Amino acid sequence: MLTQSLPNPLVVANWKMHGSLELCQEYSIKLNASSPGVDVWVAPPSIYFHRLSDSISPAIQVGVQNLYWEQSGAFTGELAPSMLAELGASFAIIGHSERRTMFGETDQHVARKCSACIDSGVIPIVCVGESISQRETGNARRVVSEQVSSILRACDSKSPVQIVFAYEPIWAIGTGAVAEPSDAEDMHCHVRSMILESTEWDAKQIRILYGGSVKVENAAALVAQQNIDGFLVGGASLEVDSFKRICQIAAGV
Ligand code: PGA
Repeated sequence: MLTQSLPNPLVVANWKMHGSLELCQEYSIKLNASSPGVDVWVAPPSIYFHRLSDSISPAIQVGVQNLYWEQSGAFTGELAPSMLAELGASFAIIGHSERRTMFGETDQHVARKCSACIDSGVIPIVCVGESISQRETGNARRVVSEQVSSILRACDSKSPVQIVFAYEPIWAIGTGAVAEPSDAEDMHCHVRSMILESTEWDAKQIRILYGGSVKVENAAALVAQQNIDGFLVGGASLEVDSFKRICQIAAGV
């Protein structure tokens, strides 16, 4: 019987609304070759997409941080999945907690975006995660379960599906407070078992990233967990050397 090997760990840079032409250039010079044993993706602000994708190593995928679910229409300021696919964006981060909390995105919005991404051949990186009060009141697992379920309900009939999940506890994002590796592992394991139980997808092939204050100092302990398949890196991705080192750690170098 043929057994499919597990995918490489994946490390994604989320520049958020940071960066410049200079950072695009620095990324293109310093991340100039593929690192064996790890997949590296970068999500600059969309306005820099072309500059970066034209100059960075072709081994590195460039994507976006957000998109809309419709393919065209009177939606001023929005970007359609089909347009992004046409221009070579291979993935989109969706449902980031900053979009959910500051821009009012609900689980339903995120599910529609996820579905539109898959239909257009853009790989969704679906972010989920609880707030500090939800964790302190013992509701972390329930909140994450609801976020994941709405995605699985909207997309489970699609196959084959390319999708990535990112568990990002909100209290760990940009705060320096990283989740305990064992707590993160617990949640990743839960997300994977939800995929296993409610879809026909091959749950072992779906990468579940951890995000929230990932740094050179904490990356090794996190990626050593069995169900942590890489990282979504915000702040530390703005320093190319740190980001590169995190990629190497994920590759086991
Ligand atoms: P951080 O952000 O690494 O700065 O905590 C991660 C994210 O929000 O994706």
